Amino acid sequence: MRHRRLAGLGAFALALSPMAAIGVGSGVMGVLVFHAPALAQRALDAPSNAVGSKSQSDEWRSVRQGVQGSVAIPNKQAGVLIQSEGEAFRAARNGPVSTYGAWVLLGVVAVLALFFVLRGRIKLQSGWSGRLVERFGSLERFTHWMTATSFVILGLGGLNMLYGRYVLKPIVGAEAFSWLTRVGKVAHNYLAFAFMLGIVLMFVLWVRENIPSRHDWQWLLRAGGFFSKHSHPPAKKFNAGQKLLFWLVILGGVSISLSGLALLFPFKISVFSGTFAFLDLFGFGLPTDLTPLQETQLSQLWHGIVGLLMIALIIGHIYIGTIGMEGAFDAMGTGKVDANWAKEHHELWAAEVQQRPAGSDD
Ligand code: HEM
Repeated sequence: MRHRRLAGLGAFALALSPMAAIGVGSGVMGVLVFHAPALAQRALDAPSNAVGSKSQSDEWRSVRQGVQGSVAIPNKQAGVLIQSEGEAFRAARNGPVSTYGAWVLLGVVAVLALFFVLRGRIKLQSGWSGRLVERFGSLERFTHWMTATSFVILGLGGLNMLYGRYVLKPIVGAEAFSWLTRVGKVAHNYLAFAFMLGIVLMFVLWVRENIPSRHDWQWLLRAGGFFSKHSHPPAKKFNAGQKLLFWLVILGGVSISLSGLALLFPFKISVFSGTFAFLDLFGFGLPTDLTPLQETQLSQLWHGIVGLLMIALIIGHIYIGTIGMEGAFDAMGTGKVDANWAKEHHELWAAEVQQRPAGSDD
């Protein structure tokens, strides 16, 4: 039993420590430097008298307003010296998105630590029976771990893009940071496909058991029994908390994948004009004539926000699947759980499994 606890603790610490380190450091992020006008300034640095009596501030104003000059190269957007939406995007990314994101991650870790101190590990009250029940088959575990591994690497790479220069660079030095960031970026591009496949497989494998049922209300009203040592609201294979996680992972996964594809193939895939046109049907009044650059900026902001929220959610999930609950890790580790664990946490499912004819693997 002791080795189970240690294994759970080790797995949790291993999965969480890099995320937590980056999250903690990001709380003390520095001030941002904004270089964009430098380019335009150089272009306006004309020799004296070249602009006659026209005031430079008029020129500057039109540049700031995004006036488009003519260029001979195929990329006509190069004629725009200052794209002010880009400045707003940059301010949002480096301001509220980074700052609130760091607080959300730190908040989740703090709440879990407090919960662990107050409530402790959720123990198996009836003890180990020594009889095992199959909970997840090999395809289910393969799907889970493929999605989980790719998600953790994608998440760490994403956190590095947002906070790495403030947190990792001072620790490992500029050269190692640059190498890590390049490797992380390439990994991010390719592992995204493993994650997307994982989301599709998870949906196909588990959607049936995640359809809401009347037991879910009872489970939610009793907060899953998490705050009382002798309460185990009845649940089928997945309880209401797990169903919520499932749907958030599927919806978040689809949303982060679409915005990610738009970033992987910029100016070829765009998702926001269409989404805004759909939302406008409900009276949102959002702009639908977005330029390709604005599409990319919105995709990047959205991708970051959804990513940060999903990381916060998964930190909670990793907690409960490792140190938070005795016996839970085995379900995804070996695929089998103790019969008493099944009875305590998924009473209705355990009864169903008992009634199944031998050899049935549904
Ligand atoms: C990396 C560390 C992770 C660990 C240690 C872990 C652990 C577990 C465990 C033990 C279960 C089975 C719970 C049960 O038997 O009731 C589970 C289920 C599940 N996991 Fe993970 N998981 C991890 C990452 C992820 C990630 C990254 C995702 C999705 C992006 C994910 C999505 C799910 C889903 C949808 C389920 C089924 C619903 C549930 O049981 O909550 N997991 N996980």
